[in-house]
Amino acid sequence: MKRRIFILAGLLLMLALVITACQPPAAPPQQAASNELNVLCTPQVEWCEGMKAEFEATHPGITVNWVRMSSGESLTRLRNEKDNPQFDIWWGGPIDSFIAATSEGLLEQYDSPNHANIIDKDLMLDPDNHWAGIYVGSLGFATNTEWLAQNPDAKAPTSWDDLLADQLAGQIMVAHPSSSGTSYTALCTILQLKGEEAGWEYLRKYASQVNQFTKSGAAPARFVGGGEAAVGIVFSHDIVAQIQAGMPLELTFPEEGTGYEIGGEGIIKGAKNLENAKLWYDWALEPSTQELGPKYNAFQAPTVKGATASMPELLDVKLIDYDFDWCGQNKTAFIDRFTNELAGADNLKE
Ligand code: G6P
Repeated sequence: MKRRIFILAGLLLMLALVITACQPPAAPPQQAASNELNVLCTPQVEWCEGMKAEFEATHPGITVNWVRMSSGESLTRLRNEKDNPQFDIWWGGPIDSFIAATSEGLLEQYDSPNHANIIDKDLMLDPDNHWAGIYVGSLGFATNTEWLAQNPDAKAPTSWDDLLADQLAGQIMVAHPSSSGTSYTALCTILQLKGEEAGWEYLRKYASQVNQFTKSGAAPARFVGGGEAAVGIVFSHDIVAQIQAGMPLELTFPEEGTGYEIGGEGIIKGAKNLENAKLWYDWALEPSTQELGPKYNAFQAPTVKGATASMPELLDVKLIDYDFDWCGQNKTAFIDRFTNELAGADNLKE
């Protein structure tokens, strides 16, 4: 009798084990929608801060964490974090760097429904959807008007060659192209305007006129406004922002033509908050979003239909037919040459 009970108990135990083994595995816990977004922000701090507040107001469940970094620094950061990206989206800065990042496999493809809003898709949208243009701005010269008053025989430069005048030796301020997309736009503009050989020869003289290279592209407008040098090479909208803030600056453009930027945005490959990155990406291509710039002292022109430019006159100047693809593909090589042969990047002014 006892033996039968044992056998029965054994059979029941085996049955229980078989039933348990046949159960489907427990479903993984539902992944909660992420409530964060990490933005690598390249425009001016005030605009980055404003965009965070505006996005959070539109998407109340999401907290935006952002860090401001110049274009070259951003690219280096993305390369270093390739296997464990800390940012979800990169917003702003000339697309030359987005083209370089795309060729290094650092950006995610995303076919946003708002690509339909873009004014000129050939120019402002990556054919493979790694980045899209979010603003446009032209390069200009910022001259300190007090320096002009003290130097009556001097005039604000109206050509690239004017920057090489003896009077401006040690009086030019520009960012270093290794850290700054603004400065890289100037470098690549010169190579296109003058041709590569004459362009590098020009760049050698231009680098020797420089008082001190800065890290960020817009900084020279502030320093020149403060009298630390006579002339800065900066995007014209950044010069306007300093003039509006009361700096004694005159804005001029080179008559033979100036370069311009298309500011880009792109989702980082392997973004941890991918869905939120897509929300930001789409939102940045809405006309109402692009009209927010002037509220935060950013006067770049929009890239989408239905948004009005705050200062169209900044693009109503002679622009060169800037070859973004050529400048983007050659970015690393041109910057290495500039840094190794013309001016190192060790002591950049912050
Ligand atoms: C400023 C300008 C932007 C530009 C950016 C590039 O913030 O307002 O239009 O895209 O500079 O920054 P960087 O420091 O790389 O020159």
